[in-house]
Amino acid sequence: MNREQAIERIEELRSIIKQHDYQYFVLDQPTISDSKYDKLMQELIELETEFPDLITPDSPTQRVGGQVLEGFAKVRHRTPMLSLANAFGEGDLRDFDRRIKSLVAGEPFDYVAELKIDGLAVSLIYENGRFVRGATRGDGEVGEDITANLKTIKALPLSLPKPLTMEVRGEAYLPKREFERINRQRAEVGEPLFANPRNAAAGSLRQLDPRIVAERNLSIFAYGIGSIEGESAGTHAEALDLLQQLGFKVNPERRVLPDIDAVIAFVESWTGERRAALPYEIDGIVIKVNQTHLYPRLGTTAKSPRWAIAYKFAAEQAETVLREITVNVGRTGVVTPTAVLEPVRLAGTTVSRATLHNEDIIRQLGVMIGDTVVVQKAGDIIPEIVRVVTEKRTGAEKPFSMPTHCPECGAELVRLQGEVAVRCINPQCPAHNREGIIHFVSRDAMNIEGLGEQIVKQLFDSGLVRDPADLYYLTMDDLLPLERMGKKSAQNLLESIAKSKDNSLERLIFGLGIRFVGEKAAKLLADHFDTLDNLMRASVEELLAVPEIGPKMADSIQEYFAQESARQVIEKLRQAGVNFAYQRPAAVAAEDSPFAGKTFVLTGTLAAMDRKEAARLIEQRGGKVTGSVSKNTDYVIAGEKAGSKLDKAKQLGVEVLDEETFLAWLEEAGA
Ligand code: IVH
Repeated sequence: MNREQAIERIEELRSIIKQHDYQYFVLDQPTISDSKYDKLMQELIELETEFPDLITPDSPTQRVGGQVLEGFAKVRHRTPMLSLANAFGEGDLRDFDRRIKSLVAGEPFDYVAELKIDGLAVSLIYENGRFVRGATRGDGEVGEDITANLKTIKALPLSLPKPLTMEVRGEAYLPKREFERINRQRAEVGEPLFANPRNAAAGSLRQLDPRIVAERNLSIFAYGIGSIEGESAGTHAEALDLLQQLGFKVNPERRVLPDIDAVIAFVESWTGERRAALPYEIDGIVIKVNQTHLYPRLGTTAKSPRWAIAYKFAAEQAETVLREITVNVGRTGVVTPTAVLEPVRLAGTTVSRATLHNEDIIRQLGVMIGDTVVVQKAGDIIPEIVRVVTEKRTGAEKPFSMPTHCPECGAELVRLQGEVAVRCINPQCPAHNREGIIHFVSRDAMNIEGLGEQIVKQLFDSGLVRDPADLYYLTMDDLLPLERMGKKSAQNLLESIAKSKDNSLERLIFGLGIRFVGEKAAKLLADHFDTLDNLMRASVEELLAVPEIGPKMADSIQEYFAQESARQVIEKLRQAGVNFAYQRPAAVAAEDSPFAGKTFVLTGTLAAMDRKEAARLIEQRGGKVTGSVSKNTDYVIAGEKAGSKLDKAKQLGVEVLDEETFLAWLEEAGA
């Protein structure tokens, strides 16, 4: 490809990728498969590698910078980033309304109510339509330059459809699902957990290595315009609409409301279950005067504007009795204490357990068995104990101390240096094995549907399944005696176990539960080594040659495969017919298919299938289907009664395939 063509193709790829990022990360409606997306990205990376001077900072390849920062530079905000005054009840909201009415002296106005996203305020500067700088709020006057970290957030547009110079304000946040995933991973390697999604978002944006930030999957909602040149919005609602048109993610749950009664009704509608069902955390509702021309008249106090207020939800708390503290041993041997509570209603659910995280937390709380405690939903997700109601002590409470030996196997527990967690390091510990099987079957690993924790526990306790490979040798007769297991469900279970044999290698690698090898590393390893046998044979040097695999992981992989017990399980999996090969995503596998990277136009009627199906099959094999014939078309597939497109093809000298040839190509390129 010459330079001219490269320029054109790079432009095209960037705009396609940008559109897909928008579909996926802003609208939450992806329209292509991950593998196709990866392929577009790969093509762009290759072109930019060939023509490095064509790289621009707003190219989608530039979201994750390779450099670890030394620290964050300070930046002074062009206009101060104020915070909001809080309202804690209906009375505060009515006071707010009265104050505004007295200041605007009869001018009509209405309100905009928005969800108060529980994340981190950021300022985003665009110059001539390009994202140039992003900063934290800091003390409101001076914040920290976190541009490199913000660029990793795919919901943030790196360029705008118009060459605007503006400052956008918004909230960077971590979706609940990502928060849970990150904490699960941290628990597995014994790192301290984040208390709530806000802390996790803040901690992530303070990372000096943007690659780590990119893995956190943060998102961002834009909620205001700090300043803008050459455009204006008469109302706040219009400003939000403008942000949305410019490609920002703007929260859809915003409403223009006529008066404070409507505001109060809106606020009330967002407590309890509705709030709990959101995929991200909110800690209140923000209410703003809609007419921005009134803002100067309303003015600001020292810290906050008078035209807006934040209604804060009360943290939902309840009192209950702590019955006992159990300790569970996880897959990696980490021992975590859990409080067993007298069941109590809290924020729309019944709570009967609360996490105590680790020994240090128990000591800090000073909690004893039998205590009356106050529980709270931290970030509305995991209930936690916030304090002991010492006034209610009777003297019968008993102190708790962490066991010194594993509750499952009796081995002595150890506290590794630098970790808060206590671990059982006996590789023969049944808890490791049982939790390892639970991990093996889980959704992100081998994804064996219908095989929940309870069934695994029964299978394990009865001795039928001692390691993941045993699952593949289960029979109907083994399953039927289990609790709540009918013939139909046993049949379904056997089928989903059998189905999992065909999974691609990355699921198996992840499912083995090798320490430090998460989903992403598993995929990289599968892609690099192709088969499990190659991975097992790999030396430390070969492992280190895989991008993103560091010495800690390389050692852990070697240690894992050196274990006799692991090798036995792998042999049993092989005997059972479990797939050990990486199934490269179709679009990539089609590299040498005649469709790969080619553009097709379909015309006329095909006898074997309709056009939609034909298009699907072409795309599956790495080709592209467009509607009209141009000089960029590689092939026209002509069925019966082909018309003007066929003429155009002939005119331009584009190669024409008849149906028979097309079918032969399909066969050749496989599925
Ligand atoms: S408007 C003048 N709208 O809540 C301040 N803030 O103190 C304008 N927040 O730090 C803020 N969601 O980070 C606004 N929809 C929203 C918000 C929101 C969350 C945060 C913001 C600010 C704090 C209020």
